[in-house]
Amino acid sequence: MKLGLNLSFAVKRWLGGESLARVVKQDLGMDIVQFSWDLVDPWWPAAARNAAARDYADAFRAAGITVESTFGGLASYCYNHFLAPDANLRALGKAHLKRAIDMTAEMGVRATGMPLGSYSAQDALDPARREAIYQQALLALVELSRYAKTRGLSTLLIEPVPLATEFPASAQDARRLMTDLDGATDIPVRLLVDWGHALFAPLFGEQANMEHWIEQCGEYIDAWHIQQTDGQRDRHWNFTRQGIVTPERLSAFWRDQRLTEQTYLIEILYPFEQSDESVLRDMQAGIALLKQAV
Ligand SMILES: [Fe+2]
Ligand SMILES: [Fe+2]
Repeated sequence: MKLGLNLSFAVKRWLGGESLARVVKQDLGMDIVQFSWDLVDPWWPAAARNAAARDYADAFRAAGITVESTFGGLASYCYNHFLAPDANLRALGKAHLKRAIDMTAEMGVRATGMPLGSYSAQDALDPARREAIYQQALLALVELSRYAKTRGLSTLLIEPVPLATEFPASAQDARRLMTDLDGATDIPVRLLVDWGHALFAPLFGEQANMEHWIEQCGEYIDAWHIQQTDGQRDRHWNFTRQGIVTPERLSAFWRDQRLTEQTYLIEILYPFEQSDESVLRDMQAGIALLKQAV
């Protein structure tokens, strides 16, 4: 298994390139990461934002850590972005990803992405509105792929989410997005599939299984978020907890599907009130369990 580390676990705790590179490399023994926009906000004024982002990128490079991609975190996820109910908000969603592309380029990183967005409660129930807004989102992604190429990026990533009021949610949704964009974008737009989202049984029922996702859209999956879950909520638990995503299951899937490059990015979220020491110990223990299963 090719393991990487989404840096959400570090948010508000280990700040600045030197400090976080030390935690990643020395304390956790990892050398592939996905940088979270919760560490540096794409909306910050460009000069100060770029300086903060480059501080991380430079320190990671010096420590021999590869930043595979940057990705939206919890802060970004609060907004409706490309599927918002009015044009002004949708334009801001597009500007958000454009600024993230800029930040990613400044870091010398080749890929960035986020969930596409969420419909309002009212729009979610209206198939015609959903479709009209979706068509605009496709155009926005095509334009952003053009811009991302000029900034030196090679891939944009979209993460499906386990909510019927958002898009893409199901594997079929994800496949539709991919086929609608196929050939229209200047750089590939691909999927980042989160195991805890894909296995959400209350929404997906019997289709909450990873083989179904591979059947529907396997050729478009560029990377994974892995997390422990009970399949009843989007838990983002660590593998130190019991659940349905065991390290053995991840390892068997990697082998059975003959995966080689689609990094398993460990995406663990901790309560803000949990102590730094206990987060670090728990991360070490979870990574040890995953490495044993490789
Ligand atoms: Fe995720
Ligand atoms: Fe999630």
